[in-house]
Amino acid sequence: MSKMPAEENQARNPELPRVQLGRTDMMVSPLGVGTWSWGDHMIWGYGQSYTRQDLETAFRISVEKGINFFDTAEAYGWGQAERLLGQFVRLRTEPLVIGTKFLPSPWRLRKSSLLAALENSLNRLDMERVDLYQFHKHFPPVSFETWMDSLTEALETGKTRAVGISNCNCHQMLQAVDLFSERGMSLSSNQVEFSLLNREPEYEGLLEACHQQGITLIAYSPLAMGVLTGKYTPEHPPIHKFRLKERLALHAYSLVLPACSAAKACQFGPDEIIQIQPLIDLLGDIAAAHDKTPTQVALNWVMCKGAVPIVGVKNERQALENAGALGWSLKGTEVAELDEVSSKMQHFADSA
Ligand SMILES: NC(=O)c1ccc[n+]([C@@H]2O[C@H](COP(=O)([O-])OP(=O)(O)OC[C@H]3O[C@@H](n4cnc5c(N)ncnc54)[C@H](OP(=O)(O)O)[C@@H]3O)[C@@H](O)[C@H]2O)c1
Repeated sequence: MSKMPAEENQARNPELPRVQLGRTDMMVSPLGVGTWSWGDHMIWGYGQSYTRQDLETAFRISVEKGINFFDTAEAYGWGQAERLLGQFVRLRTEPLVIGTKFLPSPWRLRKSSLLAALENSLNRLDMERVDLYQFHKHFPPVSFETWMDSLTEALETGKTRAVGISNCNCHQMLQAVDLFSERGMSLSSNQVEFSLLNREPEYEGLLEACHQQGITLIAYSPLAMGVLTGKYTPEHPPIHKFRLKERLALHAYSLVLPACSAAKACQFGPDEIIQIQPLIDLLGDIAAAHDKTPTQVALNWVMCKGAVPIVGVKNERQALENAGALGWSLKGTEVAELDEVSSKMQHFADSA
């Protein structure tokens, strides 16, 4: 919830980098924070390896370092992520841009369920309106057009300042653009998976279409769920950090959502970690030249592409490191080198 115009804060702090959200008057930091793991016991083990205090500190540090854009969803932690985010926002006076999402589960058959869900999200966030309301992912049987129609209604209520979509390909996005422009409205964002290990939005032309249409491409899983930090080894691939209960939840998740990033990251076994080593090495070399870390380079690459990455953070250390991706930029030659090496690893986007 914005407490004062973002432009006003930027005028007071000219050093804060900001980019326009779609064609709105909202200015967001070029790097945002995602809250999928906040309050999630089922997959992420909230309360075990990280606590509410860790998240509150991560939030505070992110804001202090100039991040003003936070992404959540009704589905994260069964609503707990929205509750935590709302509580943390109330501790601050800075203007923040808060986005949440509606999940059109297959049992939600009535168009009105989107407006009801928005109301529930606002109650959990304890806000009168949200800055960005996003359609999480399309599931049948209700048609995409029907949901887009209800998204325009959400905008009309004034309970959201802007609307966006997520997990939509180029065709769906342009369909939504047409529908919105017929009503004199505009679509502000499309949130899709985009990282050095998944460049599908670039290859498919989605990124270019976003730039042409004035739509912000919000890049989720920009670190490929932590894989691009370089912290995993063939002896300790990602799956090792999950306990049995969480592995079962992930397995169930991957059956329902086979393309889900969590399910994919866990399939990075020892062989895949070995295969991506040239990319991790290059991230390390470029990082050393800038006195940065591979994580910061991986996030900066997404920003150099003209997308806004939203990175998941769980604690103070991660928040500090990730915020260090702001305020500098890779050289064109370095982006080209990363493009070249990562282009050989795009099979992970489909199969991993
Ligand atoms: N629209 C959608 O369908 C969709 C889907 C997925 C995500 N999202 C959004 O995108 C956000 C980010 O995506 P994501 O969480 O999937 O992936 P991500 O940002 O690529 O990775 C985040 C994970 O990497 C690890 N990490 C982060 N910073 C680190 C650092 N500096 N050093 C070491 N490890 C670090 C943390 O997990 P560990 O500490 O456990 O390693 C963290 O949870 C989500 O929170 C959510 O808001 C949206």
